[in-house]
Amino acid sequence: MNIGILTGGGDCPGLNAVIRAVVKRGLQLGHEFTGIREGWRGLVEAKTVKLDRGSVSGLLPLGGTILGTSRTNPLKKPEDAEKLFRNLEELKIDALVCIGGDDTLSVASKLHDRGIKTVGVPKTIDNDLSGTDFTFGFDTAVSIVTWALDRLHSTTEAHQRVMVVEVMGRHAGWIAVYGGLAGGADVILIPEQPFDVEEVCNYVRKRREAGKYFSLIVAAEGAYPKEAAGMITKDKTLDSFGHVKLGGVGEFLATEIEKRLGLESRFVVLGHLQRGGTPTAYDRVLATRFGVKAIELLNDGKYGRMVALRGNNILDVSLKEATEKLKTVDLEMLRTAQIFFG
Ligand code: F6P
Repeated sequence: MNIGILTGGGDCPGLNAVIRAVVKRGLQLGHEFTGIREGWRGLVEAKTVKLDRGSVSGLLPLGGTILGTSRTNPLKKPEDAEKLFRNLEELKIDALVCIGGDDTLSVASKLHDRGIKTVGVPKTIDNDLSGTDFTFGFDTAVSIVTWALDRLHSTTEAHQRVMVVEVMGRHAGWIAVYGGLAGGADVILIPEQPFDVEEVCNYVRKRREAGKYFSLIVAAEGAYPKEAAGMITKDKTLDSFGHVKLGGVGEFLATEIEKRLGLESRFVVLGHLQRGGTPTAYDRVLATRFGVKAIELLNDGKYGRMVALRGNNILDVSLKEATEKLKTVDLEMLRTAQIFFG
């Protein structure tokens, strides 16, 4: 088969490792590969590149994606969808490996319903895709947050300050919880549970009373105060999947804490640092196992599936089910984090 590969949505460490694994295993199985540039946009605009063994050599440690990515919804406008179907035919692409998060994979699922042979590979540093215990990229993001918290600890302590660290996590606080636990945060705030500013101030007070004159607070970008109407956003513009740009909770909280407690407070937004650069060993292995499984699914004629990690096994689940609802932080995980608050 001529198999198209695309990477969609926000980039994520390990994308190139998946591409490499799909192509290397696929060539052994007798398939050929067309790289689709810039996510779904590449299929609408027929932007492709041939992928052979040479083009995937040396990709394992490389961050970003050699194919480029975009947040394009090709099914939003009927004329784009028409172009996509026409291009699939003209480019003689028989099947697609779609590497992406919830948005990219929900398009893959809809295309499967319309007769296109697709499999999905779950990608997102946010780890919020259902059906899989972990997505690749998450471990790298958590390692970067942990590294940052270790460094912020010493400067925050030296100045007896409160430091609010804003991390990614639009609707799910996985990065905040894992990063915060690993980095010893004093409070962790996530979108799943709107926070009370006064309660956060109490944790900071309690810590000072216990003789610790600094605090580190980790807040997911999607965390928001109980009294607010919703998440804190940068502006009101929407991307083609209807998402707003989040950001500002760190600044909001640092300002409130300084105002209410009279303590010097700062904020740091880790932002895209969490997504850039080389994947951890864990993510390289997971991405490789996902890539091998994805191409083997297509080879076996199993379409409309997403590769997944359950325990230490790689298996496949329905693309439709995996994209129906987001996987949010479970209460047990949150309870463990809360034990260390204050
Ligand atoms: O990929 C998901 C994510 O990491 C979210 O946590 C974040 O809101 C978003 O990407 C930001 O991405 P960009 O700035 O590239 O749109």
